[in-house]
Amino acid sequence: MTSVSVNIAYIVAAVLFVLGLKMLGSPASARRGNALSALGMLIAIVVTLLSKGMVEFHWIAIAVAAGTVVGALASRLVAMTAMPEMVALFNGSGGIASLLVGWSALFGHTQASTFTASTASLSVMIGGVTFSGSLIAWGKLAEVLPSGAKLFAGQRFVNGGLLVALIVCGVLFVLHPQPDSPYFIAVLVIAFVLGAMAVFPIGGADMPVVISLLNSYSGLAACAAGFAINNNVLIVSGSLVGAAGIILTNIMCKAMNRSLANVLFSGFGAARAGAKVEGDVKPIDADDASLILEAASAVTFVPGYGMAVAQAQHVVQELGELLEENGCEVSYAIHPVAGRMPGHMNVLLAEASVPYDQLVEMDDINPRMANIDVAIVIGANDVVNPCARSDETSPIYGMPIINVDHARTVFVLKRSMAAGFAGVDNPLFFGNNTRMLFGDAKASVAALIAALKG
Ligand code: TAP
Repeated sequence: MTSVSVNIAYIVAAVLFVLGLKMLGSPASARRGNALSALGMLIAIVVTLLSKGMVEFHWIAIAVAAGTVVGALASRLVAMTAMPEMVALFNGSGGIASLLVGWSALFGHTQASTFTASTASLSVMIGGVTFSGSLIAWGKLAEVLPSGAKLFAGQRFVNGGLLVALIVCGVLFVLHPQPDSPYFIAVLVIAFVLGAMAVFPIGGADMPVVISLLNSYSGLAACAAGFAINNNVLIVSGSLVGAAGIILTNIMCKAMNRSLANVLFSGFGAARAGAKVEGDVKPIDADDASLILEAASAVTFVPGYGMAVAQAQHVVQELGELLEENGCEVSYAIHPVAGRMPGHMNVLLAEASVPYDQLVEMDDINPRMANIDVAIVIGANDVVNPCARSDETSPIYGMPIINVDHARTVFVLKRSMAAGFAGVDNPLFFGNNTRMLFGDAKASVAALIAALKG
């Protein structure tokens, strides 16, 4: 293939990536967006293989087959609640792949050019940090490693020192870029150690943000590798991943009202515990709750992590439909960090075929909350905790929440009085207008449906 036709194909692939990303912005077009981006990647890979005059296709075929098996099994077998762990492993794979590609650019030269040496060492630095950091993130989420925040004395000093050493060794390598340079080996080793040391102190609670940041790093590593081997489509796709990851990280930090520095260095929940909350809890059973629902003309569901655990999305959709048939206006209020990964609730509700126009974002539902007859909280806790508005000592103080306590009546569906992810008490459960419907969310919603039908 001529270099012009290769670059035209790369432009087509890049356009497909951008269109695909745009379509991922709405649940209605997300599947097609994913397929479009995958098509872009297929074009990029096929064109690259054809343009490089490969002679060893059988190794590539073996790698494609192995990758296909792993990908297909992962997509079928990994539970939705374990998705953050899987993304962590995928990011780590991206990091190590970019590291190897960048490193390979140094082969075949007795002395690489300054440009190749700089971009290759950048891809090794960022790729190495991403790889080891992602493995630690996976270990914390899978609870193979202690999942809490593990701050240690002098942590910032040690990690700062490692970062300086990494940069110094990188610069020394670029000044003398021989393939067997001890500085290059030092870059490799320090990058791995720095990634692990930077992520290890961070609690499992903050891991989704860290994973999003590592996702961004894996894109930057790929971009640097693209420069090292002079491949335009790798530069473009790496930049897109790098930018998308940092934007998502920023959105998540904002939704938790925390700075990125606070996430990376503070050990969430390690210092502040929040005020103890006491009062009378008013339980309700499904029969009584169904009577209130029958009379309601506006109901909003507020799903959280517990809905994912209970896999209650299908029965929730069924209940919503039943209420609509009864003339009730039904909506689903979505908090940006409900659940354990970005878009978690959107994905579950889309899977249950909830109409997209019934999904309402936090900023849009809050002003309407006083006109909602019943807010049904399905396994959500932190994202509806009024402490975030009022208790300055709470670890979640300042986090924007869905103001369900402003609705006329609140039903909270959960199994016990246990705290949520942030480990803090929730005064909502003791509110005058709150009724607790204890039990597994799926069973409770099914009981509500049965009571409404009966
Ligand atoms: P959480 O605050 O974690 O509360 C989930 C609640 O679900 C628990 O209190 C639990 O109570 C209940 N639950 C668990 N299994 C259940 C079941 N089978 N049936 C009924 N209830 C069940 O969840 P949330 O409100 O969605 O908040 C998310 C938290 O994750 C926030 O603190 C957020 O900052 C954090 N976080 C999220 C993200 C993203 S991107 N989503 C990223 C980082 C951090 P019981 O045990 O009593 O049932």
